[in-house]
Amino acid sequence: MKITVIGTGYLGAVHAACMAELGHSVLGVDTRPDRIARLARGEAPFFEPGLSELLTRGIESGRLFFGGSLEDAAAFGDVHFISVGTPQLAGSLAADTRFVEAVVEGLAPHLRRASLVVGKSTVPVGTAARLATTLASLAPAGSAAELAWNPEFLREGHAVQDTLRPDRLVAGVMSTRADVMLRRVYAPIIEAGTPYISTDLGTAELAKVSANAFLATKISFINAMADLCDAAGADVVTLAEVLGYDSRIGHRGLAAGLGFGGGCLPKDLRALLARASELGVADSLRFLGEVDMINTRRREKVVELARQLAGGSLTSVNVAALGAAFKPETDDVRDSPALAVATALHAAGARVRVHDPRAGDNARDAAPQLEHAADVEKAVDDADIVLHLTEWRQYQQIDPLALVAVVRRPVLIDARNALPHRLWQEAGWTIQCMGTGPGLTVAAQDAAPGHGYDEEEMCGCW
Ligand code: UDX
Repeated sequence: MKITVIGTGYLGAVHAACMAELGHSVLGVDTRPDRIARLARGEAPFFEPGLSELLTRGIESGRLFFGGSLEDAAAFGDVHFISVGTPQLAGSLAADTRFVEAVVEGLAPHLRRASLVVGKSTVPVGTAARLATTLASLAPAGSAAELAWNPEFLREGHAVQDTLRPDRLVAGVMSTRADVMLRRVYAPIIEAGTPYISTDLGTAELAKVSANAFLATKISFINAMADLCDAAGADVVTLAEVLGYDSRIGHRGLAAGLGFGGGCLPKDLRALLARASELGVADSLRFLGEVDMINTRRREKVVELARQLAGGSLTSVNVAALGAAFKPETDDVRDSPALAVATALHAAGARVRVHDPRAGDNARDAAPQLEHAADVEKAVDDADIVLHLTEWRQYQQIDPLALVAVVRRPVLIDARNALPHRLWQEAGWTIQCMGTGPGLTVAAQDAAPGHGYDEEEMCGCW
C-alpha cells in the first residue's frame, strides 16, 4: 500500500520505518527540515534501539522516503497516518490538539481521490468526530476521503518491537471500507495472531488514554504503598513481588521508586481529567488527580531525603545525579523525574553534576544550569551524595568499591530501588532506598537487581 506518515517524532519516525518493514511504500513528512534531512539519510533523530537499522533497510529497499509537503503527501498516499504531538496546553491540564487540526486542515483540500486519514496521536475523546466533519467539508473527494483513529501504545525504548509485535491493534472506524483498509495495512501483524479490535472513534480515542491512566494508577499505587512501608518499617520491593504473583495484578508496572514521567503518561493523565470535567464526569475520575499528585511527591521526597542526608541544608553540597532520561533505553528528558530532582537540588543550593549514558545532550539543553559529566567517575568525583535516578543497566554494573575512593562521602540514594544493594553496602556505602523502611531490609538487598523479575522489569517497563 502507499502510506504517508505526517509528523516524524518518537511515534511517527518509528511508525514510518515499521510500515516500510511490513512491505508498504512510505513517505514521511514533517515541518522540521533538519529532522527530515536526517531521516532521509537513514539517521534516527533520537535514540531508539533498532530504529537506525530499520531506517537504513527501508531507504535501501526503495520503499521509504522522507520530505515534501502535505500536498505531496496527498498525491503519494492512499492511507495517511497523523502522528504529530498533542502536548499539554500551557496553563491548563488539557491537551493542545492544534497540530492535529492543522494537519487535517492542510491535507484535506488536496485529497482528490479515495483515501483514509488515520489519527495515531493521543487526543481527547470527541476530537476524531470533530476532525471527521472538517475532513468531509474540506476534501474535494467528499465522502471518499474518510477519517479513522488507530491509537499507538508503543513504549519508548521498545518502540520498534511494540509497533511490529503489538499486544493489540485498535481501529476506530466509521465504515467497513475503512476497517478493510486498516486490516490490509496491518495484515502481517494480524496474521501473526495479534488481536485486532474494530470499534467506534470515541472508544478508540479512549483506549489509549485509559490504558495510560491505568498504568499510571498502578505505579502511583505501589508508590503510595512505598510511603506506607517507610512509615511502618516494611519493604515495598518484597510487597510488590508478593502482589505481582496474583495473576490479576501482575508484576509489571509495580516498581516503586521515583515515579513516572516522559512525554505521554503525565500529560495524558491530565488531559483525561480535563476532558472528564468538560463531559461532566469529573467526580468519577477525580482519583486521577491524586495519582498525579502521588507521582509528583516522589520527586519532592527524593529531594527531601537528600537534604536530610546532607544534614539539613543542601547549600554547597556536591551531588552526583546518575541518570537524566525519564527511563532507561531512551534519550528523552521530557517531564523526566530524574532531571526534575536534579534541577530542584540545584535550586536548593547544591552543586549538581549529571550523567546519563544517552540523554546527556538533551539534558544539557533542558537544564544548562547543571554540570554535565561525560562519565560516571567524573559525575561522582568529590560527591557528598550520589543519587541513582534512572535505572540504566550500566549503573547496575558499577563497581561500588572503586567509587568509594572517588567520592567525598559514600552515601547513595537509590531512587529506583534497582542497584545491587548488598554489594554497595559491603563496599562501605550508606544506602537510602524508596519504601524499604528506615533501613534496608535483607529481602530488599537480595531482591535489588531487577527486583527478582524478568529482564524488562529491570528497566521499570511494562
Ligand atoms: C507509555 C505507555 O507505556 C505507552 O503504552 C504509551 O503509548 C506511551 O506512554 P512510555 O512513556 O514510553 O510509554 O513509558 P513507560 O515504559 O510506560 O514508562 C513510563 C514511566 O513510568 C517511566 O518514567 C518509568 O520509569 C515509570 N515506571 C514504569 C515506574 O516508575 N515504575 C514501573 O514499574 C514502571
